[in-house]
Amino acid sequence: MTSTQLRNTTSTPAIEIKGLRHTYHSGHTALDGVNLTCGVGLFGLLGPNGAGKSTLMRIICTLIEPSAGQVRVGGYDVTRERRRVREMLGYLPQDFGGWRLHRVEEVLDTLAQLSGMLEKKKRRARVAEVLHQVGLSDVAHRKVKKLSGGMVRRLGVAQALVHEPKVLVVDEPTVGLDPEERIRFRKLMADIGRERTILLSTHIVADLGAACREIALLDGGQIVFQGPPPELLALAKGRVFEITTSSAEAEALESRHEVVSRSIANGKVTLRCVSEGRELPPSATVVEEPTLEESYMAFMAERGRTTAARQDDEHLPGKGDRVEGADKVEGVDPAAAENRQAG
Ligand SMILES: Nc1ncnc2c1ncn2[C@@H]1O[C@H](COP(=O)(O)OP(=O)(O)O)[C@@H](O)[C@H]1O
Ligand SMILES: [Mg+2]
Repeated sequence: MTSTQLRNTTSTPAIEIKGLRHTYHSGHTALDGVNLTCGVGLFGLLGPNGAGKSTLMRIICTLIEPSAGQVRVGGYDVTRERRRVREMLGYLPQDFGGWRLHRVEEVLDTLAQLSGMLEKKKRRARVAEVLHQVGLSDVAHRKVKKLSGGMVRRLGVAQALVHEPKVLVVDEPTVGLDPEERIRFRKLMADIGRERTILLSTHIVADLGAACREIALLDGGQIVFQGPPPELLALAKGRVFEITTSSAEAEALESRHEVVSRSIANGKVTLRCVSEGRELPPSATVVEEPTLEESYMAFMAERGRTTAARQDDEHLPGKGDRVEGADKVEGVDPAAAENRQAG
């Protein structure tokens, strides 16, 4: 078992990124001067499709060499001290789902062996422990292809955790999960994040949950916000309004304002919208305490990025209807793609 220590436990941040740039061979600059620091806890990396989240994560995990800048994990440099960095971290890629013909237990046992746990008895115990942690003990003997999408994702977390890394990097782990599995996954992340650093990317704010310590907002390869959730909430104060009206008038409003959620009761439609700095419709009331999703939408609206920030509201519990005609975020629909893959 490897147990690499942070270079200087008290003051070394788990992840430290300075002036990071990355330009792909195609000439596309995916990251454009990223600065980011993460200590212990759950860090949400939020941003629309194409923002550069996966690129950033793959650089942190030493899988892509950055074009410029400095990236350190536990004080170790991702280009010069690659082996050290790899010992420090566990990674759940966006497209995890291989090993379909193997049994759950086998996958973990093999990966634990590869990460240096050579003693069989200890490895067995560790595999059992991590399976219990992610709630997969009952299906330890099941083949991966027989698991549900949520179970595959939890197996992905188990493989990333098996060598007890200090830092966990998970890329869009909740895409394609049903609401129950999303909740379960959030709890698992909150649990693990108590003693480790987790960097979790998503384009759905609700996936971050209450345990999220800080949010980093990536847009067009740049960090446009980093801070604890209350700071993002404070920025949105006064920018979200609510209005209850007839369905005909609601339709008209929907064409003029960015709608965050919509619910129907007693034949009336209640809309919550982002004001985008425009005048509020008469009879609208300002929402005193906007949710984190609404704050994110308001923040992105300010940047002229409303469509990209749209939340897949089928995943937001208690949020009323799906907004008809809501555009998918640009590019392929990752939920559909991953469902196919996991199914
Ligand atoms: N291998 C690659 N070659 C060229 N461009 C890429 C490659 N991978 C990603 N990109 C581009 O870099 C940008 C960021 O992609 P990515 O990091 O996957 O974003 P995200 O994970 O936030 O959706 C996108 O415009 C994407 O098309
Ligand atoms: Mg991605």
